[in-house]
Formats: sequence, C-alpha cells, structure tokens
Amino acid sequence: MIIVLMGYMGSGKSTIGKQLSSVLDYDFIDLDDYIIKKENRTIANIFSDKGEIYFRKIESQYLKEILSQENNVVLALGGGTPCYANNIELIENDENVISFYLKLSIPYLSKRLFSEKDNRPLVSHLENLEELQEFVGKHLFERVQYYSKANYTVEAEEKSVKDIIESIL
Ligand code: S3P
Repeated sequence: MIIVLMGYMGSGKSTIGKQLSSVLDYDFIDLDDYIIKKENRTIANIFSDKGEIYFRKIESQYLKEILSQENNVVLALGGGTPCYANNIELIENDENVISFYLKLSIPYLSKRLFSEKDNRPLVSHLENLEELQEFVGKHLFERVQYYSKANYTVEAEEKSVKDIIESIL
C-alpha cells in the first residue's frame, strides 16, 4: 500500500508524512528528497541549471519508480507533482494507492511559506508577504482541480500534526 500526501508548498506533507509513516511502521519517501539524492543536487539547482520542464520530466519518472515499489510506503509529493504530466491519473488509477489532500487556506500557506521560501525556486524571488499571498492565490486556484482528485481531503487549518494524522488514520 502506498499512502500519497499531496497539497500546496508549505502544507506540511513532509512533516505529516514522516510521523504518519512511523505510526504505521511504513517506509517514508519524500519525493523532493528522493530527486535530490538521485540527481545529486538541490531542487533550486535543478531549476536554475536545467529548467522547470526538465524538473517536471524527472519528477514524473521518479514518481513512477516509487509507485512500482512493493513495500508499504508513505509518499510526500512535491506541491506541483499532481499537476504535471499524467501524474494525477497514475495516482488515481493505481489500486495500491490511497491519496490525501492536505488543505489549507491562502493566508495560512502564505505565512508559513514566507519563512521557508528560500529553497523553493517558484517563490524565492517574491519579496514580501503581500506579493507571496497574491502568487499563492492564483497558483492554488490553478492547482486545486488536481488536488481535489485525491481520495480524501483533510482540513488541516489550525490543526496539530497529531490531529491531522488522526484524521488520516
Ligand atoms: C514545487 C514544490 C516543491 C518542489 C519544487 C516545486 C511546486 O515541493 O517540488 O520546488 O511546484 O509546488 P514542496 O511542496 O515540498 O515545497
């Protein structure tokens, strides 16, 4: 079984995923970390050297590689993973997968992302919270159509990690 966590940057996919995997005694894979390890460079470096199109290509390849595993896994996707190539169809149609969308509001995500934006190439150039919030608003609007294809939506706003994990379980 593969438990897939999806959601916007800063929605807590990695934090929740890591703890959920230890509760369930599943392996944990963070797709960004997997890519960093396989490519031997940071995500920011891949974007700046090779461009986003290349990143989306390898992101989809590594997703397929992980989905073909036999082990029990909690998989935290990158924020954009479900929105490119045919990734969302792969996830939806895989009988081994159960997927969750960690849903948070634009102001909440923007505040959280502002302090963590430097290693995220899509938002690192935005200089203040207002600009970031405007970007997140537009970007999330485009992406919700993909996230909402998850099997379950978890309302994650103002909830502790423990509560979110309980909702998933
Ligand atoms: C991206 C999200 C990032 C990372 C890359 C692109 C996106 O992952 O994959 O910077 O398109 O939303 P996180 O959601 O873990 O930050």
